[in-house]
Amino acid sequence: MADLSRRRLFGVGAAAIGGVGLGFGAGTATARPAQAEVAVPTVPFHGEHQAGVETPPPAHTTFVGLDLRPGTDRAALVRLMRVWTDDAARLTVGTGALADTEPDLATAPARLTVTVGFGPGVFRAAGLDDRRPPWCRPLPAFEIDRLEPRWSDGDVLVQVGSDDPVTVAHTLRVLLKAARNTATVRWVQRGFRRARGSEPEGTTMRNLMGQVDGTVNPHAGTADFGQVVWNDGREQPWMAGGTSVVIRRIHLDLDGWDELDRHGRDEVMGRRMSDGAPLTGESEHDTPDFEAVGPGGLRIIPEFSHVARARPMAPRERFLRRAYNYDEAPGGAGVSDSGLIFVAYQADVDAQYVPVQQRLAEADMFNEWSTPIGSAVFAIPPGCRAGEYLGQGLLA
Ligand code: HEM
Repeated sequence: MADLSRRRLFGVGAAAIGGVGLGFGAGTATARPAQAEVAVPTVPFHGEHQAGVETPPPAHTTFVGLDLRPGTDRAALVRLMRVWTDDAARLTVGTGALADTEPDLATAPARLTVTVGFGPGVFRAAGLDDRRPPWCRPLPAFEIDRLEPRWSDGDVLVQVGSDDPVTVAHTLRVLLKAARNTATVRWVQRGFRRARGSEPEGTTMRNLMGQVDGTVNPHAGTADFGQVVWNDGREQPWMAGGTSVVIRRIHLDLDGWDELDRHGRDEVMGRRMSDGAPLTGESEHDTPDFEAVGPGGLRIIPEFSHVARARPMAPRERFLRRAYNYDEAPGGAGVSDSGLIFVAYQADVDAQYVPVQQRLAEADMFNEWSTPIGSAVFAIPPGCRAGEYLGQGLLA
């Protein structure tokens, strides 16, 4: 846990510390830019867990799904992980990677995190299928799904987050160049939230429908978070300190949503659009009363509202939601192609995520305005110490 608090303290606190450079160990609190004027906050790369999960979400995150080239074996995967680990460790402290052709672009990490995940293809290629967690495979098919291969699956995941979009682009370029002989890009999903500094730290994000999205979530740095998110290694010892990620690309029908009045929108979600409060409460973090009935005898939070269906109905049905907006060019005569890169982290996909997804697929008023068009699942290996590489516990 020591490293976690370090990550939190310095990852988040560096901005407040301002120009004071505090260097220690593998991570430094602030990167030293070429002109030594601006202090750039950093998140330590090394640690018990990979950064980019418990870390407060930065303004930009790009998710890239890669396919391994035919013939890639365990030795090739080890080589790639060694290079990526070294590159990521350097870039996150504001130093160019070893083979960086543009090291000047590396000087503003702006809380850069690099997170790597393994899909089922990694275990196959490495000849380690017996070490694949059983949940590391595509989700079962749901009736609401309209999945497109161009947003789904993949052998390897790279998740790159930063408050600075130039840093995201540069980091990805470095990592993808290093992977050229091993893997090809299958899909890229670019997500954004509000720019850092545009609202107070810790404000729950709003998605492009205007909903306050992410209120009910485990809190970073708590034992509860650890239990929900970090794998204990009981099933697969190499996964201890790792987690899993489900990435669902969900198209949002903003035009249809426009036709709904405020009251209708509140009822669909079970929470108020204005401030995110549950329909039975006054403010965002009030505990919803799902049993409360109104004068007409109907539930105040409708039974088939999104939150009434999504809330845990068994203790294990919880996960960390860390979503991002997407907004792409519309095809044809449309105004926009927008939605949510819905991202959930949990110790075990089958035990925690799938039952909730199943319930929502069966009945959720919000399904009328949301359509899953992409889906991918990855095992996120634990973090590593200086001198080690990501995935070493599996591949070594
Ligand atoms: C684009 C699609 C989605 C949107 C726009 C959306 C939006 C929201 C909003 C606004 C809330 C209420 C505030 C909050 O606690 O965050 C919420 C709650 C929640 N959503 Fe979603 N959601 C989406 C998809 C999903 C999916 C696919 C799942 C999981 C399978 C999910 C699981 C949850 C959970 C667990 C809660 C908290 C329920 C509670 O305990 O109160 N959501 N969502």
